[in-house]
Amino acid sequence: MSAPAGTTPAAAAAGDLAVHPAWLPDAAFAALGARRVTVEIPAREWPAMSAQVAQTVRAEVAAATAAHGGAVVGAHEDPDVVLAVVPHSDNDPESFVFVRDAGSTRITAADPRGLLYGLFHLVRLGEAAFEGEHEVERHAPHTPLRMLNHWDNIAVHPVMGQVERGDSGGSIFYADGKVRADLTRVGRYARLLAAAGVNRVSINNVNVGHLETRLLGDLLPEAARIADVFRPYGITTHLSVSWAAPVRLGGLTTSDPADADVRRWWAEAADRVWAAIPDLGGFVIKADSEGQPGPFAYGRSHADGANMLAAAVAPHGGLIHWRAFVYDHEQDWRDRSTDRAKAAYQHFVPHDGTFADNVVVQVKHGPLDFQVREAVSPAIAAMPRTRVGVEFQVTTEYLGHQKHAVYLGRMWSELLGFAYWGPGSPTMADVAAGGHPDGDGTRIGGLAAVSNVGDDEFWTGHPFAQANLYAWGRLTWNPGADPIAVLDEWIDLTFPGLGDQGREVLHRILDESWETYERYTAPLGVCFMVSPHSHYGPSPDGYEYTPWGTYHFADRDGIGVDRTRATGSGFTAQYPAPWRDVYESPQTCPDELLLFFHHVPYTHVLHSGTSVVQHVYDTHFDGVERVLAARDAWAEAAGHFPAALADRVTERFAEQVRSATDWRDVVNTYFFRHSGIGDERGRAIYR
Ligand code: GCU
Repeated sequence: MSAPAGTTPAAAAAGDLAVHPAWLPDAAFAALGARRVTVEIPAREWPAMSAQVAQTVRAEVAAATAAHGGAVVGAHEDPDVVLAVVPHSDNDPESFVFVRDAGSTRITAADPRGLLYGLFHLVRLGEAAFEGEHEVERHAPHTPLRMLNHWDNIAVHPVMGQVERGDSGGSIFYADGKVRADLTRVGRYARLLAAAGVNRVSINNVNVGHLETRLLGDLLPEAARIADVFRPYGITTHLSVSWAAPVRLGGLTTSDPADADVRRWWAEAADRVWAAIPDLGGFVIKADSEGQPGPFAYGRSHADGANMLAAAVAPHGGLIHWRAFVYDHEQDWRDRSTDRAKAAYQHFVPHDGTFADNVVVQVKHGPLDFQVREAVSPAIAAMPRTRVGVEFQVTTEYLGHQKHAVYLGRMWSELLGFAYWGPGSPTMADVAAGGHPDGDGTRIGGLAAVSNVGDDEFWTGHPFAQANLYAWGRLTWNPGADPIAVLDEWIDLTFPGLGDQGREVLHRILDESWETYERYTAPLGVCFMVSPHSHYGPSPDGYEYTPWGTYHFADRDGIGVDRTRATGSGFTAQYPAPWRDVYESPQTCPDELLLFFHHVPYTHVLHSGTSVVQHVYDTHFDGVERVLAARDAWAEAAGHFPAALADRVTERFAEQVRSATDWRDVVNTYFFRHSGIGDERGRAIYR
């Protein structure tokens, strides 16, 4: 293949030379750019974002046609392609219609934002968009809230670095203790996100430090500069705020939501913020969680806290994303009555129906914390009268730190498609889109995920982790999309012209890489087993006697957490039927979640017919074999890729092999030492 251009003219002009173009190299626009294209957007009093997106559509078409021999033409000049804003019956500003007949390809939308998504649809289709006939196809996002949360700090945190749980270098927004002067790269990021379907970004860490609190104060104009860069791509900016802001910034002595001065402070802060960023999306907040301040200190509930902020932002059309990641992080491991998995439900479900209309309660997809395999959070299905948003992690905090090749599309697809009330019932994605079966259909919480992007030249540390960012956007737009087809889109857009061998190798490496990672790390839904704090590498007892509430209780007889109603923590009672019963019994619990719900002997026989301990040995040996095979496949294909990218991937594979081997040996030895049972097949287990 011809290597994708390493830079774009815009980047070169900005002196930002060493950035891989990710999924929008100029060559990805070859098919569209070779056509005669008409853009018709009626002159009208568009809102600022729509007006700017209109400019973006025109600029994209102009650049593509200039680069690839096409032309921008008038409607009467017999165009090959028409991109037109026209009245639409549903008026969803993001939807578009695609049709091809009589030799002409048309995208129509009610708003320039829909047109931009339609334009990128044509780019994805390539030549296929201009061949034969296409029936009328309407494309609309599953939910209007498709968000990325950045855990970026302005100040470099002494332990967490600049980007909390980031493995892609520093922040793209901040450097040297302030917002970057040159935001060119943020603009390119915005373009990538728009092409994937993301429409909201929060720009600072949910753990809000003192400096970052000032984004509501003297640093507000700086936040506004970032919002200005996202806006032309249809992306709304949100800020993470500290519950303690009235004290930190306002000099008040309290943050009590019942205090009139506190309420006034937030209302005035909101007035100020929206004056600077008139279309700000709202505030994201982590309160009473892992040491962050919150309403509990004043004897108030999360509903009291969320509703107070909601009242402040409501006049501006703002949203409050109130995170449900609330649990006791100072638990005594001796206390067997507390089960961290139960916490989100316990804290939030009692308040169902009391949250203001502009509050989204943002719940992590699992009850613990972004593990390679954990059950789905029952809290998501238990609040029909609340806007429930679901939070994911694109960054791979527990999945290899973007050193391991791990494609998450299949994992997310499985989670988003989880049918909470049994086969055929509404899914996790449906609930997030307002489709709770007992809801009124209006309570849309949407989908959010922690970004994996930094100032790394490949954006994401491991160049293939870009596929996760792309897939996140595409799956929020259409949770039912086939994640392997989405991966194929990413390949086409990122490496246009890549031959069959290169494509086949990427699929061989990535298609089942989530399952591979699971095979050499924590087995059967047992969770954690990672090194404390860094969350990288094996440490089976690392969290066992800590205050964090994440235990597996391994002893000489067995392992796993009894979360049953009959004999355990009672967590299974939080699920609706049929899952409350499916998970209750080891006879019906799916193998992959057995140790999440049950404490069983090492000799317990899985549905697969293998004992737990033998399963651990088999999967861990096999997991490393799969990594070695992926590395070897890569070695054969690396020459098809740009050299710098190939070098980075090769380097990452060396580390993945080392780390996977470490995981295999540590976990196998751990199970051997606890059970005294050797491998049936006599493979090497260290004693
Ligand atoms: C995890 C993660 C933290 C993060 C937290 C959160 O616990 O390790 O770094 O702050 O999740 O989601 O708020």
